Amino acid sequence: MKTIIELISNEVMTAFKEAGYDENMGKVTLSNRPDLCEYQCNGAMAGAKVYHKAPIMIANDVVAKLAGSKVLEMAEAVNPGFINLKVSGAYMAQYLEEMRNSEKMGVEEAKDPQTMILDYGGPNVAKPLHVGHLRSAIIGESIKRMGRYLGHKVIGDVHLGDWGLQMGLIITELHKRKPELVYFQEDYEGEYPTEAPFTISELEEIYPAASGKSKEDESYKAEALEATHQLQMGNRGYRALWKHILQVSVTDLKKNYANLKVDFDLWNGESDVQDTIAPMVQKLKEQGLAYEDQGAVVVKEETDTKEVPPCMILKSDGAALYTTTDLATIVERMEKYNPDEIMYVVDKRQEMHFVQVFRCAKKAGMVKDDTKLTFLGFGTMNGKDGKPFKTREGGVMRLENLIRDINEEMYKKIVDNRSIKEEDARATAKIVGLSAIKYGDLSNQASKDYIFDIERFTSFEGNTGPYILYTTVRIKSILNRYKEEGGNLDTLKILAAGSDSEKALMLEASKFNQVITNAYEEKAPHKICSYIYELANAFNRFYHET
Ligand code: ARG
Repeated sequence: MKTIIELISNEVMTAFKEAGYDENMGKVTLSNRPDLCEYQCNGAMAGAKVYHKAPIMIANDVVAKLAGSKVLEMAEAVNPGFINLKVSGAYMAQYLEEMRNSEKMGVEEAKDPQTMILDYGGPNVAKPLHVGHLRSAIIGESIKRMGRYLGHKVIGDVHLGDWGLQMGLIITELHKRKPELVYFQEDYEGEYPTEAPFTISELEEIYPAASGKSKEDESYKAEALEATHQLQMGNRGYRALWKHILQVSVTDLKKNYANLKVDFDLWNGESDVQDTIAPMVQKLKEQGLAYEDQGAVVVKEETDTKEVPPCMILKSDGAALYTTTDLATIVERMEKYNPDEIMYVVDKRQEMHFVQVFRCAKKAGMVKDDTKLTFLGFGTMNGKDGKPFKTREGGVMRLENLIRDINEEMYKKIVDNRSIKEEDARATAKIVGLSAIKYGDLSNQASKDYIFDIERFTSFEGNTGPYILYTTVRIKSILNRYKEEGGNLDTLKILAAGSDSEKALMLEASKFNQVITNAYEEKAPHKICSYIYELANAFNRFYHET
């Protein structure tokens, strides 16, 4: 369906043409004076220069042609030459009726559907999910759903961090604690046990312990680096342990993401491309793009100024880096899915890393000329003190605990002044709590830092998830009541607005297709949030007045 703005523009464009002016001057925008009109056209102002006429004369000519319009119920020329417009109530009702009967509320699917790999989530195996991973999951999931709604093929890949130093740290710590484990016996040739020698809670305790030790003790760190190297070189026992770590950790991650209603099509990780790294580096060397620099392999652009450091792809000991796995992953994704775009939803502090990776991938021809590589960097989630969100004790806040705290706060608000069954209140708190977290995050422009304010986010008033849900429930209960009393929604007709608040609500509702399409083009979930907030406000005003 055409957007309402397009339809009104068409009407005004025709009037410009009929009055003898360039029709392109007839484009209409939303009014920036809602007290005076709903839409406006400033084309006569631009026309003044072209036609050497006072703008108001042009505006008057156009308005005369709009008399009797079925689309507009008001067209007014005002000094110095603006055209103020109001859409006809009957036309608006007809538009909403059509919208209601269309499959996606007037949203048209993309004519040329694109395949996009969406790299989001990005958790690190064996490290507990922390709030930093929350934003990637929430924003990425939102982009994925928007893209699919518009008919694109969006493939979500969690891209596990499963191949780095944290693995070596865990192996080292386990070795110290349980040296008797068969994984550490060098001459062992048999099968390894299928059960992991640790539980998820043990694993979550082992990693921070090991990480702490490695920061204080040089030799411990050296051991962990060596273990990482051994693992990457294919040490059998370490590989078997690594599989256990992966398995235990991924089970837990899946549970956590399910609680957030986030799910991934692919559970690939950095480790999946290990075998393709050597041939990729070889090829880069043959292409003359990579060369050795003090033992390490780097890719450099001739034009590089100091701002972009050379992109290192192998350390002097031959170990792969974050950049290396990301490059190899691009190669793999191109081969397997041939996407039009690969988009990364990652902390904006990693921007330079992606600048380097994208440049290298383009230069080496790993992607097609027109493949888009996009970095969607998000800002930090801060506490009320403006510093990265921490626990009360100042530690890293785990995602699970954050969700628990929100649910608790929501529960308190729900039982406050109400008698409600405990289990019902808990179940509702969980649903509404999730809306508090997600909406709190999504309503802020992704690239900006924001303050995670539990008190504000869980409020039923203001620009919050709970307010939106509350409004939705109110609407649904009215419709249900109508049905209970014998009404039939299917035969219900949308009529022309009978009051200002009704008209205002209809105007908001009619923006849906434009907002959705535009929000996806700009990859801006916050635009959908502002829209539903305005829509909810328009509805509640209508409800109170009618
Ligand atoms: N695991 C990384 C981190 O925690 C994020 C991964 C982002 N995706 C990527 N392809 N590099 O920082």
